[in-house]
Amino acid sequence: MRPPPHTPGAVPGRGANPLREGLRLERIPDPCTMIICGATGDLTGRKLAPALYNLLLGGFLPPEFTVVGMARRPMDDEAFRTHLHEGINEFSRNRPIKAGIWEGMARGIEYQPGDFDDPAAWAALATRLKRIDRDRGTAGNRLFYLAVPPVRYPEIVRQMAAAGLSGQSDGSGWTRVIVEKPFGSDLGTAQALNAALREVFAEEQIYRIDHYLGKETVQNLSVFRFGNGLFEPIWNRRYIDSVQITVAETVGVARRGEFYDATGALRDIVQNHVLQLLAMFAMEPPVEFSPEDLRDEKLKVLRAVKPMSPAEVADATVRGQYVSGWVEGERAVAYRDEPEVSPASETETFVALRLQLESWRWAGVPFYIRTGKAMATRVTEIAVQFRRPPLALFGRAGIDGVDPNVLAIRVQPDEGILLRFGAKVPGQGMQIRGVNMDFRYGSSFAVDSPDAYETLLLDCMMGDASLFTRGDEAERAWEILDPILAAWSAGEGGPLHFYGAGSWGPPAADALLERDGREWRRT
Ligand code: BG6
Repeated sequence: MRPPPHTPGAVPGRGANPLREGLRLERIPDPCTMIICGATGDLTGRKLAPALYNLLLGGFLPPEFTVVGMARRPMDDEAFRTHLHEGINEFSRNRPIKAGIWEGMARGIEYQPGDFDDPAAWAALATRLKRIDRDRGTAGNRLFYLAVPPVRYPEIVRQMAAAGLSGQSDGSGWTRVIVEKPFGSDLGTAQALNAALREVFAEEQIYRIDHYLGKETVQNLSVFRFGNGLFEPIWNRRYIDSVQITVAETVGVARRGEFYDATGALRDIVQNHVLQLLAMFAMEPPVEFSPEDLRDEKLKVLRAVKPMSPAEVADATVRGQYVSGWVEGERAVAYRDEPEVSPASETETFVALRLQLESWRWAGVPFYIRTGKAMATRVTEIAVQFRRPPLALFGRAGIDGVDPNVLAIRVQPDEGILLRFGAKVPGQGMQIRGVNMDFRYGSSFAVDSPDAYETLLLDCMMGDASLFTRGDEAERAWEILDPILAAWSAGEGGPLHFYGAGSWGPPAADALLERDGREWRRT
C-alpha cells in the first residue's frame, strides 16, 4: 500500500523544518541499476539527472545505486558524467550542486555505447550489468528507462529479451521498464505497443509514465477527497454544477515543431494528463490504496466517459491554432511559422471539450476541458463549480453579488486549493461579495515540492505502480479520443479556429460554455 502522499525527507544540512515535523516518511528502495536507453537526449539532462541527484541529496537512494546510460553516440563514462552534471547544474531545483553528493553519484555512472538494434550492444550491456551487480552490490535489480520515441520500443524490448535482460528467466532481482508518452497515436497503435511490451514483460513490470500523476497536487487530490470527511459527501451531481479542467501553457512548440505537428494538443495533453486528472478527480473511493484498486477505479471513470458521435464532436469540441501575438510581453510567432511546422498545418494547439460521464455520481455534470500552447498564463487547475443556493433569501444582492461557490485545485504554479464563497460586505445594508479561502503549499509546508520525476522514479524503484498508467487505461483514453480525431480529420467536427498567441484561445471556446449558460473561470 502506498502511503499518500509521498513526503520527501529534509535536505541534509538545511536543518529541520518545524512545519514538517512528524511528516518524514522513509522510503529507501533496494539497491538497483537504472539503465537509460536514449541517454544522450533532452529528457536525461532536463529531468532524469536532476531527479536522481535530488533523490540522492534527500537521502532516498542507497549508496549502491548505479546509472548506466545507453545510446548510439560514442562517449566514455567521463563524458556521460559531464552530460549529467551539466543537466543537474542547469535544471535541478536544488543548486549549486553539492560536491560530496555529486562525487558519490558520479562513482555510480557508466555509459554503454551501442545501437539499439545491435545484439552485440545488448550483450555488452548484459555483461556490464553482471559486473555492476558483483562490484557494486546491485543484486540483479534493474530499472530500464526507455527515453526514446515509442516507435523504437518493440525493437528494444525484443533485443532485451534476446540478451536475457527481461528479468523473466534468471529469477534474481527485479526488472522493471518505464516507458514514456505518447503511448501510441490512436487505439490501434496503443494496442500494438501494449502487445509488443507484453510479449516480453508482464504488465506488473511495465510502468507507463505520465508525469502529471507525480505532481504533488495531483496526489493530494486523493488525500483531499478521501482523507477528509467534509468534501466527499458533496462530490457528486447533487451539489456540483460543472467541472473545468484547464492546462494552459505560455510556451509555444519551441524546438519540438516536428513532433508537435504530428501530434497536436488532444494527443499531447488530453489523452494522458487531462484524462488522468479527470479520473483522479472523479473516481470512486478505492477499497484500498493499492495500485490495482486505484487503477481499477480510474479505469471505471474512463469507461463512463461517453465517446462522441460526429455531430457531438461538432457541438462539444473546439480546436484552435495560435497566430502571432504577445505572450508575457514577448512577441510570439504564429504556429505555422514555428521551425519544422508545415506552413499549411491544420494541427490544433488548443482544444476545448465538453465531456459527459455516464455514471451514477456524475450523470448530467459537464466536464469542460481546455488546454493550449501560447496562452495568456501558465496554469493547470481543476475548478469545481457548485450549484447555486436554491433560494434567493437575500434578494438581488444575494444573486448579483455572488458567483456560485467554486473550489479551485491549483496543480501549478502556486500549488494549492482555493474555496470561493459569498460573504456580507461590512456595513449597513445587505451586500454580498465573493471572497477566497486560500491554502498554499508553499506557506503551509515551507518546503519545495519534489519534481514529479523524483516521485515517480522512486515509486518505480519501490515497485509501486499506483501513479503509473495501466495498459487498459491508456487504451480506453484512445477509445474516448479516436472519434474526435476521426471527425476532425473527416472535416465533420467543426472548423479549426485561430487565436492570438497570449490570449485565452478562440472565441468559439467561450461560446461552447455560453451555450450552456456558463463561462470559463478567469484564473
Ligand atoms: C508534456 C507535453 O507531456 O507536458 C508538453 O508533451 C508539455 O507539450 C508538458 O509542455 C507540460 O508539462 P508541465 O509539467 O510543464 O505542465
